[in-house]
Amino acid sequence: MKLYNLKDHNEQVSFAQAIKQGLGSQQGLFFPQDLPEFDRNDIDALLSLDFVTRSSRILSAYIGDEIAPETVFERVKAAFAFLAPVAPVAEDIATLELFHGPTLAFKDFGGRFMAQMLTEVSGDEKITILTATSGDTGAAVAHAFYGLENVRVVILYPRGKISPLQEKLFCTLGGNIHTVAIDGDFDACQALVKKAFDDEALKKAIGLNSANSINISRLLAQICYYFEAVAQLPQAARNQLVVSVPSGNFGDLTAGLLAKSLGLPIKRFIAATNANDTVPRFLSSGNWEPNKTVATLSNAMDVSQPNNWPRVEELFRRKNWQLNMLGFGAVSDETTKAAMHELDALGYISEPHAAIAYRLLRDQLQPGEFGLFLGTAHPAKFKESVEAILGKELELPEALAERAGLDLLSHNFPDDFAKLREFLLSLPD
Ligand SMILES: Cc1ncc(COP(=O)(O)O)c(C=O)c1O
Repeated sequence: MKLYNLKDHNEQVSFAQAIKQGLGSQQGLFFPQDLPEFDRNDIDALLSLDFVTRSSRILSAYIGDEIAPETVFERVKAAFAFLAPVAPVAEDIATLELFHGPTLAFKDFGGRFMAQMLTEVSGDEKITILTATSGDTGAAVAHAFYGLENVRVVILYPRGKISPLQEKLFCTLGGNIHTVAIDGDFDACQALVKKAFDDEALKKAIGLNSANSINISRLLAQICYYFEAVAQLPQAARNQLVVSVPSGNFGDLTAGLLAKSLGLPIKRFIAATNANDTVPRFLSSGNWEPNKTVATLSNAMDVSQPNNWPRVEELFRRKNWQLNMLGFGAVSDETTKAAMHELDALGYISEPHAAIAYRLLRDQLQPGEFGLFLGTAHPAKFKESVEAILGKELELPEALAERAGLDLLSHNFPDDFAKLREFLLSLPD
């Protein structure tokens, strides 16, 4: 598999290199040179396979002969060791529950596949994973790499801006997992990570690698669950499918669009955001004008400069698609709460991120269409807000209950690159 840097098309790398490097020069994102496509018969055959077999075929279509298909299969089997069920919500609406992995969030798919691939391509090299999280990435990456040899993980997150339980889930592990609470918002954490990747000396000294949604392996993994959703839907729904994606950094939407580009029959996507609405405003006005990031109930989507957007634009350019085929919308906290109540009345307890996707889906679904929204996290991950909004008590799933009583092991740092750099260089082997 060959990939190119979106900021410099002459920089071309292999899949192994793209995984290890994360970003290209000038902080450019890597994008696949070949965009494989399946015809309708291939798609039908794929949809009849089990999740792991199908996913490994999809991933091998991208990866090519760089990693043997049997190896990809074994790695996918280790990574995707849990289900992604479609649950009905209304007559013409269902949700794809992506929260049945060890950290109860969709990022388990990308995080665990990336850990498997990185282990595969790194051999004995020592590496340091540095990533910024607005909540779920941190937990998924921490758990995916916890205890793996030759890998150190450093996770930055905005202090006080992620849910207390989310924090417990990944900041209590210790061992090769180091967590740092930054005095700033998620964009500040992301900027620190980008600075580290621009620092050649640092990169070399610690074998720097990223593991957030900018890493192409995470994105490729996420393509697979869009296929899984379609495989579970009745034939009639397949050709009339509208998928609503709760979006922050737009990794999940990019993966969905890549699934469509492979030939998966998805009629339309809805890019669903909270008040951090840079993309919806861009899609309606044509002007890219990020505002200051604001805190919302759906805090993992509090991103005003979504870093995967250039990949979306590149895909549209390569496929000759028009951006106006994307549905979009931004949902306020008040409307998010109303959507959670509406779902509760339908017998489905949800959390703020998925509720945003649901709300826009039910507003924009046309007669004859079938709607699917992504359930990106288990409601118990946002226990405090879900309970306060719905006036109900939620039971903690085991993965969270176990960690809730443990002490946080995080460091607190200012938004200061020099301090972070010093810390990274001082990490034990
Ligand atoms: C629960 C939840 N939903 C949605 C998103 C948005 O996903 P993306 O950043 O891929 O747009 C995130 C991102 O962290 C998340 O944690």
